[in-house]
Amino acid sequence: MRINKKNLKWWQKTIVYEAYPSSFQDTDGDGIGNLKGITMHLDYLKSFGVGAIWLTPVYASPMKDNGYDISDYYAINPTYGSMEDMEELIAEAKKRGIRIVMDMVFNHTSDKNAWFTESASSRDNAKADWYIWRDAKEDGSAPNNWGGIFGGSVWTWCETRQQYYLHTFGDFQPDLNWENPEVRRALYDVANFWLDKGVGGFRLDAVTYIKKPKELADGPVNPFMGYASVHDMTANTEGILDFLHEFRSMAVEGHDIFAVGEANGVSSDELDKWVGEKGVFDMLFEFSHVNVQFDGPQNWCQTRPWKLTDLKKAFFDSQKATENTGWYPIFLENHDQPRSVNHFLPADAENQAAAKALGMLATTLRGTPFIYQGEELGMTNVQRQSIEDYDDVLSINQYEIALNKGFTKEEALACVMEYSRDNARTPMQWDASENAGFSAGRPWLGVNPNFKTVNAALQENDESSVLNWYRSLYRLREEYSLLIDGDFGELFSDSEEIFAYTRENDNQKAIILINFTGKNVSYDAQQVFDAQPALFSGKSCVAGSLEPYQAVCYIKDKG
Ligand code: NOJ
Repeated sequence: MRINKKNLKWWQKTIVYEAYPSSFQDTDGDGIGNLKGITMHLDYLKSFGVGAIWLTPVYASPMKDNGYDISDYYAINPTYGSMEDMEELIAEAKKRGIRIVMDMVFNHTSDKNAWFTESASSRDNAKADWYIWRDAKEDGSAPNNWGGIFGGSVWTWCETRQQYYLHTFGDFQPDLNWENPEVRRALYDVANFWLDKGVGGFRLDAVTYIKKPKELADGPVNPFMGYASVHDMTANTEGILDFLHEFRSMAVEGHDIFAVGEANGVSSDELDKWVGEKGVFDMLFEFSHVNVQFDGPQNWCQTRPWKLTDLKKAFFDSQKATENTGWYPIFLENHDQPRSVNHFLPADAENQAAAKALGMLATTLRGTPFIYQGEELGMTNVQRQSIEDYDDVLSINQYEIALNKGFTKEEALACVMEYSRDNARTPMQWDASENAGFSAGRPWLGVNPNFKTVNAALQENDESSVLNWYRSLYRLREEYSLLIDGDFGELFSDSEEIFAYTRENDNQKAIILINFTGKNVSYDAQQVFDAQPALFSGKSCVAGSLEPYQAVCYIKDKG
């Protein structure tokens, strides 16, 4: 997409909020959040500028991977409510100018999906070729040496067919065979069903894995996994863009929606093909900034020390790659990542100041901010005492792998604590009452014990809270259009203390400075000398210096 600065689309100007329905708000006391719970809080979301809500999957599902294992794309998970509840959410959101964005999990289904049950029932049924089936090797072993993203082989044996099926993720998530045109048609029908319901966009889950190489040949073994990584073997396989162009023409073009792909494996120098003028998506989640401390996406226990310049490089590269064409989804958190205050700032950082610093980054880089639930409150990671207290299938598998690799229980748990997806999945902290006001019943996942001091009710009435900071950031974006349409420029690229950049349009220039350290730092005040602080966190704003974790946005008119 070529950018027309004068005529940006609605989704380029708004803020998207990711809601994780199980943990957002429970209204019926079963301990699991539901759709009515999201409808209930629409005005809250509107108060800091949310114009679209990305719902992680709400379809019928056995919930072995929290909905990313879909058994029926046309039905709502009864735990979340009914189709009427969904229609009500779409309608109530629309009244407030908010659109609902659906998560399209099209790389795989649940093994309980009727498509898979039929496919697995024989070698010659109508859907026999809808999934990826292969014969065993002569000795009965799996067709190749690939290991999956949740650990273990990507192959699981099916007694009925006397064949193996391939799964990039868990064995309960068989991969669909995109080479089969009937499969693709069925998926486009799903997308169109939801378009007819009036949704405002799609997030395409794990989309870089949908195309597999022709030969499913053995690959080099990743020593940590003990397998060839399925990510290395299949992500972004040649030919994938043909499928995605077809998806775009069948389910996106002609609709006033956006499509954002989850694109592990697409580097910033390839962004042009994915989101450029002839690209397949409007935006693409790429992960170099959240993986800044990993050697590879599957070496989760092997972290390396990282510097602020590494993080800045990751962001700056994608800002540059989408400079003239394409558009960037800015995110620091999602349901798979640790909380950003723990991820990007030192453990002893003062929480409120840290959350504000990151809020400035998330809303003033060039692109559409994607805020994950609770980020607007500065919610933090959670520490569990034992692996039994974790729900996340990935964490449980990773713990086992670490033990098998010779890690002690304490070491394995320490890794899980830091990176578990449960960190982001604890219930929303609405108030200081029992269960943080999330549910009248026992929450499906324990509430973070800090809810008495970090919660929405408390922050609502505190002018200096993180929540009210997000409201100020929203107003700032509304008031100064250059924060939406302005070009991006690097500032102080070599600094290990300050994350700084400029935004600039025909009329104005913004200078954004964020102190990533817990000490006072100084910088060359010439950069900002005739500019006015439009918004700053901390006690006072003095050109040339920043308080610990202070974030400042200066704006000057161009002469
Ligand atoms: C990416 C999703 O964000 C994650 O939560 C899920 O487990 C995998 N894809 C598999 O669908």
